[in-house]
Amino acid sequence: MVDMDRISISLPTKLLEEFDKVIAERGYACRSEAIRDAIRDYIIKHKWISSLEGERVGNISIIYNHHSHELMKKLTDIQHSYTDLIVATLHMHLDREHCMEVILVKGDAKKIKELTDKLASQKGVKYVKLTVMTPGGKIPE
Ligand code: NI
Repeated sequence: MVDMDRISISLPTKLLEEFDKVIAERGYACRSEAIRDAIRDYIIKHKWISSLEGERVGNISIIYNHHSHELMKKLTDIQHSYTDLIVATLHMHLDREHCMEVILVKGDAKKIKELTDKLASQKGVKYVKLTVMTPGGKIPE
């Protein structure tokens, strides 16, 4: 028997509704098991990103609520401290509330991870996805 701890968390109602829909579709019998799996996924993803080393090319996609001017300013400020890493940024207005930004990056994997984490941890950023590849010339034929 594994040791268990009980925690209590606050979630926006809509987020929880959406989560419950997804876990019902996926056939989870209880919310706790689904949350445990989601946490395991989160940890695995973090470990994968942390293990990256060397030169990489890729993109960081983020979705955020553009009604927060403070958030928009913060995201821009963060990007301005990584000009050696960022090749280009593409901005798309998704709907009335949301913007998507695709940030093309090239450089040290650790720096790319650091930038991704800084963007992801801002309040109001709803989704972050990092995709990285080794630069083209190093892919075996
Ligand atoms: Ni926009």
